[in-house]
Order: sequence, then C-alpha cells, then structure tokens
Amino acid sequence: MQPTLSNYLLRNGSYIGGNWHNSDNFFAVINPADGQQLHQVANAGVEQATDAIAAASDAFTRWSTQPAAKRSEILYAWYQLLISHTKDLALLLTAEQGKPLAEAETEIQYGASYLQWFAEQAKRMDGDTIPAPSADKRIIVQRQAVGVVAAITPWNFPNAMMMRKAAAALAAGCTFVVKPAQLTPLSALAMAVLAEEAGIPKGVFNVVVGTDAKALGTVLTSDPRVAKFSFTGSTAVGKVLAAQCAQDVKRVTMELGGNAPFIVFDDADLDAAVQGLLVAKFRNAGQTCVCANRVLVHQAVYSRFTEKLITAVQQLQVGSGLVAGSDLGPLISKEALDKVETLVQEAVEQGAKVELGGQRHSAGAQFYQPTILSQVTADMQISQQEIFGPVIALQTFTDEAQAIALANDTKYGLAAYFYSRDVGRVFRVSQALQFGMVGINDGAISNAAAPFGGIKQSGYGREGSKYGLDDYTDIKYLCLGGLA
Ligand code: SIN
Repeated sequence: MQPTLSNYLLRNGSYIGGNWHNSDNFFAVINPADGQQLHQVANAGVEQATDAIAAASDAFTRWSTQPAAKRSEILYAWYQLLISHTKDLALLLTAEQGKPLAEAETEIQYGASYLQWFAEQAKRMDGDTIPAPSADKRIIVQRQAVGVVAAITPWNFPNAMMMRKAAAALAAGCTFVVKPAQLTPLSALAMAVLAEEAGIPKGVFNVVVGTDAKALGTVLTSDPRVAKFSFTGSTAVGKVLAAQCAQDVKRVTMELGGNAPFIVFDDADLDAAVQGLLVAKFRNAGQTCVCANRVLVHQAVYSRFTEKLITAVQQLQVGSGLVAGSDLGPLISKEALDKVETLVQEAVEQGAKVELGGQRHSAGAQFYQPTILSQVTADMQISQQEIFGPVIALQTFTDEAQAIALANDTKYGLAAYFYSRDVGRVFRVSQALQFGMVGINDGAISNAAAPFGGIKQSGYGREGSKYGLDDYTDIKYLCLGGLA
C-alpha cells in the first residue's frame, strides 16, 4: 500500500538560507516496509553544506539579538504548526522510517514538545550576580548563544531527534544547520516548510540532505564558522566526528550508542515489569538507543516472569506501519536485519534458547519476528552490542550485587531500567548504576522535561530539560571595577 503524502510538506531538496536547493543529481527515498521508492531528493554536497553554514553565520547576529520573547513566540508558532499537521507529518515519517502510524504520531508530539518546552526556556536564559572579593567590584554572569550550530541526526527518530537539538539551539539564539540521515530526509524537509511558515527568518534553520555522509560530516565539523556540533548516532561515528571537532576545539554534544540493562528483582511487580519491558524493548521495533538490550531477571522469579512475557509478546502484531493494529514495523534496512539475524544465530550456536520467534517475519523482506532468547550469557555478542531489533535477551542473576555488576559491565552508559518495590534497593541500585538515565518501575523515560544523555562511551551533554540550553550557551563574566 503506497501512502498519499501531503504535497505541501513533501520537498525535493535541501533548505538553505530560505531557498530550496535543486539539481539533476537525485537520490531515492525508500519505504522500508516494501522496498518501493517513495520520492527522489536532490543530493546536496560540500558546496551546499558550506552555503548553509554561510547562511547560518550571516543570520546569527540578527537572530541572537532578537528579544528572547520574540524567539519564544516564533518557536511556539512552529510548535503549533507541528501539532496541527501531526497526521500528515506522521504519515510521512511512517512512509520513510517504517514505524507504526500511532508511534509516528507520538513521535511528532514528542518532537513538538521540545519546541513547546524551549519556547518557554528561551525566556529563562538567566544570568547571575556573584559577591565580589572587594567592595569596588561587581561580578555579573551572562549567558550568550554560542553561534552557528551544526548537527547530524539519525533515521530512528527523524523528527524528534532533530527537534530536540533545533529547539534548544534556536531558543538560545543560535542558528542551525542539520544533516538528517539520508534514509529519512523527508521529515526534516517537512520541518523546514513549517519553520518558514512559522516565521523563522531565512538562514536561521537550514537542512542539508545528501548521501555523502563523510564529506558532509567533514564540512560540518571543520568549518571555522561552526561554533558547536551536536550528533546523535553510533559511538563509532561519534568518535570520528568528535576528533574532527577537536581540531578547532568546537563545543560538542554526543548522544551515542547504548546497551541498556533491564533488571527485574525478586520483589518486582512482575506484570508491571512485563509492560515496562514491552515499551522499553519494542518501541520502534527495538531501534532506539535507550531500548532494553540485556534483560536480567532474578532466579527466583525467572519462570513466572518469562511465562508472562511470552504471553504478552505473542500478542504483538507485525506488519507495515500503515496497517491499522501493527505494533512492530520493518527494520530500517537489509543490513540492519542481517545484523539482528546474525546476533540471534550466534547466540543460539553458543547455547541460547529460542523461547519465541527467532526468524525473519513473513510480512516482508525487512521484518523480524518479536523474539525472546533465554540462557543468554554476558560474553555473547548479543549482550555486548546494541541489538537494534525486536529481540529480548534474557539472563539470570542471584543477588543484587551480581545484578549491578552485570548491568555495569559495558562500555556504554546511556539508559538503564530496573523494577523493585523495595525503597532501600531503589536508592542503592540507582546510585550504583553507571548510566546517565535510570528508569525505575518505568520503561518510558524520554520526555522534554528530562535531561536526556549518557556517560562513558554513550557520550556527553544533555538534551531537553532546564539543562538543555547549557550546551548552546557560553557563560560570559563581566567584572565591573572602580565602583567604590
Ligand atoms: C534515540 O534512540 O536516539 C533516542 C530515543 C528517545 O529520545 O527516547
């Protein structure tokens, strides 16, 4: 079934300095549910990326000196446009990304919530006064926009990951150049349509879509006019981009890979834990960096938990995101499917047992069955890598110390989850877990009011929340003397 996409939101090329780029060099955008071409988009390269940075640089002074109330008003108008176009934006998102339509609508609302949040925060970019060491001085602290921000955003949340960065950057007074993933450029271009309609001045928000990720990434991380770079994606790519930014000592935010443990203690509410795991594991068919990757269950409740889990996972419907009732759509690409399949096969060869699924799904070439593996061990690749697919890998533990040790035994530190009704344990385990975000009796931790981000090789910087402007502002200290 081919969706009818909104002509108003569907664009053919990059949005640079308020103009739409065109060329006769196109690339195809494919629907992952059926492999059919959805649209063709002009392929931007180094020249267009450089033009976008120039446009953002030219627009910076005008935008950053607007009163915060004005920036807030424009961001709020953009938010309202997202909300009023939710259905069309969600359809576009499902068509190019694959997630079920209901989940796509939730993503649009999630992306919009960052605009709403930062429209408010723009007015709260407060400074400080600090008692000076002598009577003739005053110390004043101000926050100022860092300048041009460049960003690279992923295919798994084509709307929300971009909006989380753009909303904070524009609220702070920065101008913005984003390169969305080449697999999902249409959602980003649709946001440019609405940015223009909201009254965002030319050059303030620029979208560069192209297939030469390496060349575009090099421009965005090395042009001296870019003051700050923000990336959401894999740890491997993040390391390369951060190293490129180091040449100019650019400010950097890295939101990288995860390997989230999901711990079920013997005092947990098992029904709640099953429901929490469904959310933490199967959102976007397991393709999020905060997805539960290793499920650690206390030996004493293992059988009861697994039984309940199998019953719940059996209810999940797999199919095109456009079909009503689908809970899980396709994986983003053939490579993604191959990776999941290999991880499962290797785990089984090494002793894991398939409790449910374990095969490709008949819904199409890029679908995988919701899968539960038991008898998984910490040394298997499936425990060490981000699965990024609909596979639950179950391990057991016998006491709290072992659960914590297993959970922390990873180079990643993005999200962790645990279920327990013992308040002492809740505080002990929260403190011991080496992760930037911890869901306690909750599998849905992401929202605009909360600081999203990781530690260790999951990156640095925080997005959303009252801390979200910090990464887009410099602190300037004014020393007033001669006041005696
Ligand atoms: C991600 O997968 O990169 C982020 C998901 C979220 O915001 O919850």
